[in-house]
Formats: sequence, structure tokens, C-alpha cells
Amino acid sequence: MIQPIKDMSAAFSLAGKNAVITGGNRGLGFGIASAMAQSGANIAILCRDGKKAAEALAELAQYGGKYESFSCDVTDMSSVRRAVEEVCESFGNIDILVNNAGVSCVSELLDMDEQLSDWYHVLNTDLNGTVHMTYEVGKRMRDAGKGGCILNITSNAAFIVNKTQPMSPYSASKAAANHFTKCMAVELGKYDIRCNAIAPGFTNTELSRHIPPDQFDYINHQMPLGRFGEPIEIGALAVFLASPAAAQITGAVHVIDGGYILSC
Ligand SMILES: NC(=O)c1ccc[n+]([C@@H]2O[C@H](COP(=O)([O-])OP(=O)(O)OC[C@H]3O[C@@H](n4cnc5c(N)ncnc54)[C@H](OP(=O)(O)O)[C@@H]3O)[C@@H](O)[C@H]2O)c1
Repeated sequence: MIQPIKDMSAAFSLAGKNAVITGGNRGLGFGIASAMAQSGANIAILCRDGKKAAEALAELAQYGGKYESFSCDVTDMSSVRRAVEEVCESFGNIDILVNNAGVSCVSELLDMDEQLSDWYHVLNTDLNGTVHMTYEVGKRMRDAGKGGCILNITSNAAFIVNKTQPMSPYSASKAAANHFTKCMAVELGKYDIRCNAIAPGFTNTELSRHIPPDQFDYINHQMPLGRFGEPIEIGALAVFLASPAAAQITGAVHVIDGGYILSC
């Protein structure tokens, strides 16, 4: 049983926790890595781009924890297994898993090639990558008997259909990842493993940089809070959900999008 907090003294602290963050080398994943490091966590970044990972680790160094990167392609089960083994050898226990690695594509289904390459590329990363990581890390969390926290970074695109930027594989994989989160919350609760999803809206990263200026203005105009989010703001929510303060929260999808889905 995950014990409730008794007071607020360390309610939001991640001191000494080991967090694995896929795609933690840049963008939103780095915002989460930075927020968690500032809250006391040690960080293992799993990604493909080693140069970007080195830059991320250099920035994290100022927070004084243990930070390391591991080469991993989340679409490839053997790569995931090897990377998780390496993390465990170096860090010991894994307390927090953040499934953040993701890709998108803008294309209508009927315009895709005959192999549906875009469809499979997005689903293999955003949905299957999350499943691969949850399988490998979840088994270790269960066997260690210390509980854990799994956060899946999905999207508000799971709830809406973007008319100006068709992205059915992205929306479908994020919607599936939201429901996968709920299934895992039920399956893993008996091991004291909490599973939640964070569904960001438009956030300032590489992924959102392809948006044409006129659409950028339109989106900001539609958004009740009037601006794109910042990666550190997603990180702050991730810290809360991984912290002792969230001991009773599991199976929930937390939208953080400036109110966009309410008024788009
Ligand atoms: N930005 C937004 O507006 C927004 C909104 C809602 C949701 N999200 C979600 O937030 C997450 C991060 O997005 P972002 O905006 O930060 O994107 P980004 O800047 O393009 O970064 C994508 C990250 O995913 C990693 N990645 C992609 N494919 C991978 C693979 N096969 N194996 C391992 N790592 C892989 C990349 O690692 P490498 O550097 O090694 O390629 C990179 O760290 C995604 O799940 C995205 O859907 C973003």
C-alpha cells in the first residue's frame, strides 16, 4: 500500500528517486528531466541522439545528482531491453518511468504511401514504444517490490481532430496510450505502481516548430490562456504526479494545454 503524506514538508520532493525518461535529451522530455533533477531525482535519459544527450547531461550537472544517458530506440524491443538492463546496472532500482519519446506526421491517410509508412512509424514510436518500455521497466518495478510511478506523455490531440493539420496516426496512438495508461493503472496497482498520463497541448519544442505562422497565431488566439506551453511547465506537472503528494492518483489523464481543447 502506498502510504499517504502526513504533512507538506517533503510532499513534492523526488529526493533520491531514479527516473528513466525516454527522449529526455531535448524538448519536452528535457523539461521533465530538468524539473525532476531540480526536485532531487537522478536521471537516466534514453534516446538515439548521443550528441544532444551529452548537451542535456551537461545542463543537468548543475543540480548535483547522478545523470547518465543510454542509447535506445523505443521501437526496437531488443534495444529497449538492453538499455533498461544498462540503467539497472548503473542506477540499481528504477522508481519513475516517463514514456515521453514521440514523433508526429502531418498527412491525410489516403495520401500516405502504400506501405502506410507514416502510420506505422508513428504508432511504433508513440504507442508501441510506450508498451515496450512499460513491459521492461514494469517487470523490474514489480520484482523489486518497491512500487513505482509510470507517466505516459500523450497529447490533447487524443481528444480532438486537427482539421488544418491531419494527423490520424498521432491522434490515434495518443488516444490508445491514454487508455493503455488506465489499463496499466488497474493491472499494476497491486504492485504499488501508479500509472498516469499527461496530455500536453501546443508546447514550444522542435515538434511544434513546423507549424506555419498563420496557424501559430490562430492557435494562440483560440487558446483561453493565449500562449504555447513551455517544457518546464510539463515538467512541473510530472514532478507533482511522481511525488508523494500524488500517492492516491492513478489511471488519470491530465490535460495541460492552456484550455485549448475547450475552445478550438
Ligand atoms: N511539442 C508539443 O507541442 C507536444 C504537444 C503534445 C504532446 N507532445 C508529446 O511530447 C513528447 C515529446 O515531444 P517534443 O515536442 O519534445 O518532441 P521533439 O522535440 O521532437 O523530441 C522528440 C524526442 O523523442 C525522442 N524519440 C523519437 N523517436 C524515438 C525513438 N524511436 N527512440 C527513442 N527516442 C525517440 C527523440 O530522441 P532523439 O533526439 O534521440 O531522436 C527526442 O528526444 C512526444 O511524445 C509528443 O507527442 C508534444
